[in-house]
Amino acid sequence: ADYLNSISAILSLSLPAPPQPKKIHSFLSVLSVSEWLRLLPFLGVLALLGYLAIRPFLPKKKQQKDSLINLKIQKENPKVVNEINIEDLHLTKAYCRCWRSKTFPVCDGSHNKHNELTGDNIGPLIIKKKEV
Ligand code: FES
Repeated sequence: ADYLNSISAILSLSLPAPPQPKKIHSFLSVLSVSEWLRLLPFLGVLALLGYLAIRPFLPKKKQQKDSLINLKIQKENPKVVNEINIEDLHLTKAYCRCWRSKTFPVCDGSHNKHNELTGDNIGPLIIKKKEV
């Protein structure tokens, strides 16, 4: 029983006393505003490290991989389908693939404005007849 008392005495000496609300409050009030401001970068780094540590466990948002292609053509239809008879292919040479043409599905050159505005590089489908 003596050795238990000595272990208890050692433990009570070596363990710090749990923080008491009064001491924490006095610690917070001891620091001046400028000292708190100097601590901000350190606290920011701590917050960043904490965030990086828990980030793998946070629920992930589903990222949107695609966005709308058709902004205004026949939006009342659930799906825009165009049919062209093969006999009529000679009537039109360029077909729109940018979905910006005012004469869709025929290209009216609107892809040029889209490319200028966005840095994209899209263009029409051009139907050609093989020269024999
Ligand atoms: Fe759309 Fe030319 S207008 S590809």
